[in-house]
Amino acid sequence: SNGDALTFDIQKNPSPATASERETLLQNPGFGRIFTDHMATIRYSQDRGWHSAKIEPRKALALDPATVVLHYAQEIFEGMKAYHLPDGGAALFRPSANARRFHNSAERLAMPTLPEDLFVESVRELVKIDRDWIPTAEGASLYLRPFMIGSEAALGTRPATDYLYCVIASPVASYFKGGASAVTLWLSENFTRAAPGGTGAAKCGGNYAASLSALAEGQREGCEQVVFLDAVEKRWIEELGGMNIFFVFDDGSLQTPPLTGTILPGITRDSLIKLGRDMGLTVREEPYAIDQWQADAESGRLREAFACGTAAVVTPIGKLKGRSHGFTIGDGNAGPVTLRLKAALTDIQFGRAPDKHEWLDRL
Ligand code: PLP
Ligand code: COI
Repeated sequence: SNGDALTFDIQKNPSPATASERETLLQNPGFGRIFTDHMATIRYSQDRGWHSAKIEPRKALALDPATVVLHYAQEIFEGMKAYHLPDGGAALFRPSANARRFHNSAERLAMPTLPEDLFVESVRELVKIDRDWIPTAEGASLYLRPFMIGSEAALGTRPATDYLYCVIASPVASYFKGGASAVTLWLSENFTRAAPGGTGAAKCGGNYAASLSALAEGQREGCEQVVFLDAVEKRWIEELGGMNIFFVFDDGSLQTPPLTGTILPGITRDSLIKLGRDMGLTVREEPYAIDQWQADAESGRLREAFACGTAAVVTPIGKLKGRSHGFTIGDGNAGPVTLRLKAALTDIQFGRAPDKHEWLDRL
């Protein structure tokens, strides 16, 4: 089947966490360390198309050692969040945008595309059954991780014939230790993340594997994240290992690198462009060179910089370090435009402000 008429077979976990176990876990969730009681799964095979949609107890996957994903990394994923609302309800933020991006990632990795309605339904069904796992603490949420793997056992290099789509859920607080304080970036000069014609615009596991040596190098230098330059000229700022980047200038304007095919089209990025414009700010999607960034930071023309993404939300950037560059942005702390944009975004996500763009999908 093409999956359009699938309904989920719901198998409840017979031994879920108790309310008190859950409460203990939710007190200090960190990021991506604890998981809910259930998962959503859908299978794909060449003959049957999408089939066997289930909500089932979360458990280990049994994979043949020759499974395609383990050798050739045919894998894509998404990241989104469910938020607890003041009226006791819950909502997802722009899930259809994640469904669309998942579709695009699947095409890039030669995988079957999951109908976008089925993607959204899988996430909604999982959040409904594990609703008690949505944290209520300030700034916390339930992170959803849909992913798909080539599940055929075969060592020939060609697209797999069989796939497993799965959604897991993890209650999370801040992605960075220390919460909202400014982070230090490492400028990756030895390693690039994505090249023209490559997979940089797809959300596939391989992109993250390729970024880890640079991250390890940055961590040795005391930095929290890595900023990558374009692979051709090694000059233009692209994005961080797991976040997009914005710059704020002394005239109040904002700038973010354009979507040229080598960076991930972030949904947070898109939302902040719209919210910035709603505030009357000029927002440019234009290339920004690393030498210019250093010069502008030193002259004071560049006032603020921040990273953004589902996990990172809006994270101020205080400093940049590298072999040939190094500077502090503003006074090294969160700036006012960064904080205003963060508040505008999170006020919508947590149901504290009117949702003018109709971004929330209530459960
Ligand atoms: N860039 C990369 C490489 C990412 O992993 C992410 C996180 O998902 C983003 C950007 C931001 O995307 P989004 O705002 O859709 O979460
Ligand atoms: C997300 O923000 O959803 C991501 O996938 C980024 C990752 C660093 C957790």
